[in-house]
Amino acid sequence: MTHNTTTASAEAEVRVRDLTVHYRIEGTEYPAIASVTLDLPRGRITGLVGESGSGKSTLALALMNAISEPGRVSGGTVHVDGVGEVTALSAKQLRAVRGSALGYVFQASQNSMNPLRTIGRQILDLGRSHDVKDLPGLLHRARELAERMGLDGKRVLDSYQHELSGGMRQRLGIVFALVLNAKVLILDEPTTALDVLSQAAVLKIIREVHEENHLSTLIVTHDMGVVSEIADNLAVMYGGRIVEHGPALELLRAPSHPYTKALIRATARITGDLASARALPGRPPDLTTIPKTGCVFRERCAFATDVCTGSEPRLEEFRPGHRRACHADVALVRTSPATPKGDVS
Ligand SMILES: Nc1ncnc2c1ncn2[C@@H]1O[C@H](COP(=O)(O)OP(=O)(O)OP(=O)(O)O)[C@@H](O)[C@H]1O
Ligand SMILES: [Mg+2]
Repeated sequence: MTHNTTTASAEAEVRVRDLTVHYRIEGTEYPAIASVTLDLPRGRITGLVGESGSGKSTLALALMNAISEPGRVSGGTVHVDGVGEVTALSAKQLRAVRGSALGYVFQASQNSMNPLRTIGRQILDLGRSHDVKDLPGLLHRARELAERMGLDGKRVLDSYQHELSGGMRQRLGIVFALVLNAKVLILDEPTTALDVLSQAAVLKIIREVHEENHLSTLIVTHDMGVVSEIADNLAVMYGGRIVEHGPALELLRAPSHPYTKALIRATARITGDLASARALPGRPPDLTTIPKTGCVFRERCAFATDVCTGSEPRLEEFRPGHRRACHADVALVRTSPATPKGDVS
């Protein structure tokens, strides 16, 4: 585990500023992410966590300008070093950038391969669509990556999707993302179809490749266990907002946002103590029920006061490299044994 102690933004490969995405539901637009500002520094793995529906995949897709109808990027910018302003690229430029400069694995991408072509042919298709000259070299690299993921490289490249298990396909999704030497790697739930042992092996390879290539990596997951093993920095999302962002170890040991604290408490794998693991009570809001004013977490928050109803807290740095969006006193949140409202455990 190579956690770093700062989020040093000076070298950020990816700079997201005030990014907002709306989805249209029955004629009305709702923000799925709102004013997200986040740096993905080079050489660091950023974990993006939060409950289902908090906007993690929406943010990951927006980083590649891949939001489709009924959604749209309605504000903000995404700057990627060497690529430029991603939100301003033409469709053709985007196709060139996605899969090469920006490697990505979509959520459930294990189900989205071409059923009619072998994996090897799909690697060649990917290479041709990005004007790769050395196609045998590309296949060689794909095979090598697959083998590092614990797969039989030759066999999987000769296989069709239906001949592979979900876990094998998930690992191949990561091979596809890495094979063109991307500098930015975005992985949305990359290990959900894997058993615990394969998960650990795949996380180890992701870490190795990340370090060898000095990548900027974003791993989206709802599994705090995964991020605690691999991430240098953590960003926590709730109701389409980043509510806390900082060095992973510091954030896990001393969460400073009530939501992060509750999320960690709800994860027995982190605390290592089943008895003290608390269910996170209540439900996260959906797009139509996210509060339009005030703090989005206030209804489930043990620290909420009147000010949380009246004004939305800004995501502000309270110590170098560590930001949070909360009106409550940092020391109080960190030291209080308070559990969220309505705790039933
Ligand atoms: N195409 C769409 N049309 C309408 N609403 C959408 C669409 N895609 C996502 N949403 C809504 O946007 C919100 C954020 O969804 P998103 O998929 O980004 O969440 P997530 O954090 O990735 O969740 P999960 O952990 O379940 O993958 C949710 O309320 C979701 O219902
Ligand atoms: Mg998702």
